[in-house]
Amino acid sequence: MYLFGSAAPPVLDLVGAVERARSAGWSVCVGLTPTAAAWLRDEVPALERITGRPVRSAPRMPWDEEVWPPADVAVVAPATLNTVNVCALGLTPHFVGGWVAEAIGKRWPLVVMPCVNSEYATHPQFGTSVATLRGAGVRVLLGPGGFEPRPPGQGDRGRYPWHLALDAAAAALDAGAGPGTAP
Ligand SMILES: Cc1cc2nc3c(=O)[nH]c(=O)nc-3n(C[C@H](O)[C@H](O)[C@H](O)COP(=O)(O)O)c2cc1C
Repeated sequence: MYLFGSAAPPVLDLVGAVERARSAGWSVCVGLTPTAAAWLRDEVPALERITGRPVRSAPRMPWDEEVWPPADVAVVAPATLNTVNVCALGLTPHFVGGWVAEAIGKRWPLVVMPCVNSEYATHPQFGTSVATLRGAGVRVLLGPGGFEPRPPGQGDRGRYPWHLALDAAAAALDAGAGPGTAP
């Protein structure tokens, strides 16, 4: 599994999420948006030790070898308003956006679980982006059975439903697709 995190508070619990995924039998490679990488700078050594793979937040240089093995499924969680829009609009400002754009184009199995408050969630672009992603075959875990937005200040990062993202990843794997490699 490739697990891509962006800069919403549950990303601070990524070590625990990776351990949960590994307990469920996944090998995990972690990718981060630049802001998430800044938030997690002290956790990167632990993430690399647990996963046995480099944590990536920057695209490789054209002359560098790929350092991750192919993945069967990718999970973008937590996905901020910004990252959901980046993914839906096909923008590639960073490693995560670039990978997701390629994954959507190739129809690789992809799960996106947003983390937005209810005000971000009512921004018109957010709904458009979710619809675009779903229309492209991405499993967007929003609403019942996924992340449910709460009013600003009432979010609880400890209740971010990581288990639902892992369940969706397993379901995507069962549906059969992939593998994909990082660009
Ligand atoms: C303490 C804090 C909490 C935040 N929580 C969220 C959040 O839950 N959802 C969200 O979309 N953005 C949240 N943001 C804003 C994002 O971090 C910001 O939009 C950032 O540019 C997202 O970048 P990324 O999507 O590239 O990681 C938060 C910012 C801070 C400082």
